[in-house]
Amino acid sequence: MSIIVNEKERFFTLRTTNSEYQMKADGYGVLKHIWYGEITDGDMEYLIERPGLGFSGTIYEVGDQRAYSLDTKPLEYPCGGVGDHRVPAVLITHSDGSAALDLRFKSYCIKNGKYNIPQLPAVYGEETEAQTLEITLSDTASETEVILRYGVFEKKDIITRSAEIRNCGEKEIFIKKAASLCLDLPSGKWDWIHFHGRHAMERQTERAPIIHGIQESSSTRGTSSHQQNPSFIICSPDCGESQGECYGAFFVYSGSFKTQIEYDQLEQTRAVMGINPDLFGWNLKSGESFYTPEAVITYSGVGLTALSQNFHKIIRENICRGKYKLAQRPVLINNWEATYFDFDGSKILRIAEEAAKLGVDMLVLDDGWFGKRDNDCSGLGDWFVNEKKLKGSLVDLVENVKKLGMKFGIWFEPEMISEDSDLYRAHPDWAIAIPGRKPTRSRYQLVLDMSRKDVLDYLYDSISKILKSADISYVKWDANRSICDWYSALLPSDRQCELPHRYVLGLYELLERLNTDFPDVLFEGCSGGGGRFDAGMLYYCPQIWCSDDTDAFERTKIQYGTSFIYPISTVGSHISVVPNHQTGRITPFESRAVTAMAGSFGYELDLGSLSDNEKELVSQQIQSFKKYAPLIHNGKYYRLSDPMTENTALWEFVSEDKSEALIHGMIFRKIPNMKRISVKAKGLSPDSLYKIEGRSELYTGKALMHGGLLLNDIWGDYRAVEIHLIKDSKIIM
Ligand code: DGJ
Repeated sequence: MSIIVNEKERFFTLRTTNSEYQMKADGYGVLKHIWYGEITDGDMEYLIERPGLGFSGTIYEVGDQRAYSLDTKPLEYPCGGVGDHRVPAVLITHSDGSAALDLRFKSYCIKNGKYNIPQLPAVYGEETEAQTLEITLSDTASETEVILRYGVFEKKDIITRSAEIRNCGEKEIFIKKAASLCLDLPSGKWDWIHFHGRHAMERQTERAPIIHGIQESSSTRGTSSHQQNPSFIICSPDCGESQGECYGAFFVYSGSFKTQIEYDQLEQTRAVMGINPDLFGWNLKSGESFYTPEAVITYSGVGLTALSQNFHKIIRENICRGKYKLAQRPVLINNWEATYFDFDGSKILRIAEEAAKLGVDMLVLDDGWFGKRDNDCSGLGDWFVNEKKLKGSLVDLVENVKKLGMKFGIWFEPEMISEDSDLYRAHPDWAIAIPGRKPTRSRYQLVLDMSRKDVLDYLYDSISKILKSADISYVKWDANRSICDWYSALLPSDRQCELPHRYVLGLYELLERLNTDFPDVLFEGCSGGGGRFDAGMLYYCPQIWCSDDTDAFERTKIQYGTSFIYPISTVGSHISVVPNHQTGRITPFESRAVTAMAGSFGYELDLGSLSDNEKELVSQQIQSFKKYAPLIHNGKYYRLSDPMTENTALWEFVSEDKSEALIHGMIFRKIPNMKRISVKAKGLSPDSLYKIEGRSELYTGKALMHGGLLLNDIWGDYRAVEIHLIKDSKIIM
């Protein structure tokens, strides 16, 4: 039983294999957060007694008991306006203009299986795999209810959360903020890890002590963004990969979000994550409900590796969907860095011919095949084939690629519109822009109003027409700008504040229709690289192009940050040419290969321009990736070094049965008379013997994990590391 209820005490415990989450509705009906952490088998309420503090108010019913204050108690879903002056989870304005909500316990129920959220992506699970707890709270003065939903995946150490706000009254209410998660940590000193960055430099890992006041990471870009990722980790100062306490959270949402971390007057930590309230408002009519997107949390008492592995498993098995969810992904070649906009059908076919000879599975035709699109200033929205540019039809090109034994994939940027396009000339009002103001251009393009049904229908029709016109196995779904100038021609003025969320709902609706109607197509997400790398998109696209930075050295840092939350199979990663197009850096082919193999692997270069020796390497790399792909994608992932601070980026994949492991990575810099660098393996069977592929010496798992291995000396910078460990059948004497 993963949900345990003591009805008399109104005491709720969510139990997973390695964690316990406790909450209690007290005599006043206030739902207090009691505990999240190690399994205690006890009621941890004694830890949350609080003193009466000056200037902390009390709820009316408690009379003169000054120690009872919403301002000091750990709470499950704190409301604004009624005496808790910390960051609220929910802010409601009523029809009389008052802005307060005082939620008290009403009822609860338990269901087998995992709840769904209407119109939104969410973790899914078998009836037997998960349980749902619903706690209904109601306001003391209005007929507003909030249903808190908790999904418990016992064996996966995962708890999901979402809230439904229900207007049971007669008058409309206005939701100003509706967070998905509030996590109060009643005591302890903590560090905060988050993933920040910019275009071509996403998910840089930053760790800092949580200080008094409020720290925040957020996006106001309409997408989850390159700049901050909708995820966070809170950990004890001594927490490392294999020791210490940590809590992780990620948001199943692809729009603007806000995470706020408050360290309050009693040195309690509160983390609140949800839709960014700065760009949100929702009018809730009588009888209607608003559903927040989902937040997913995990706890590890043994460091960050376990936290990441919990997230990897739930995302890979219970968020990603479809045919490719667990299947081996095709090795692809994408023409973008090989040609940019300068191609015709025969140039593409030449790239495909070379790729087919070397063992590549799929050719992806990137930007420029449609409308009038020879640069990034025109054509978006005109999703019909530019046969003049291709010098032939798309069907012929696809068939010719297929004759080479390869599949065919194609690029779209559905949410965008160029002013120089037939679509814009016909429907200028489909672009998001405020009447009377010139809209912001970014990459010289505007954004379509995805809240409109006619826009979604147009996109569905034009994309599905292309997908039906030829045998297309893959779609790269790009989105190359942040969104601003929010205004929809179809929404009344008091509903304009709903547009940013309605945009995301529209995007999800379109993706759902296309996923349903084209179940054999592999969708890859993209947003100028990894500008929308989030669990919401992963529900529709089981892989996302991780970054426009294909420089192997920089990529190790981007992929390191990404790995804290997202599984390796979701990381689109390609080998490109040197000097690298983003940095001018020259890295060895082998290092580019191991880096790209920590993902869903491919190439992004003109293979025809390589030397024979390099072509031979490509062919070996593909064979090697195909050999290791089950281990890389299904195995457990371990970070073995920190590329943000060390001279190496090293990581490891270990098979579930611990019979093999692959250590990959790179030594960054050669130093004269350098001492040998060693690496300690992780996750092996301690009492088994392992040998390194191609060598005969035997090592115990313990030796490899506690002593480690000396890496070969290097000559030059950015040198690849590859060690394949195989369990030996011999038994330790
Ligand atoms: C941005 C993507 O990240 C690139 O890979 C490429 O598809 C371009 N857009 C095309 O415009």
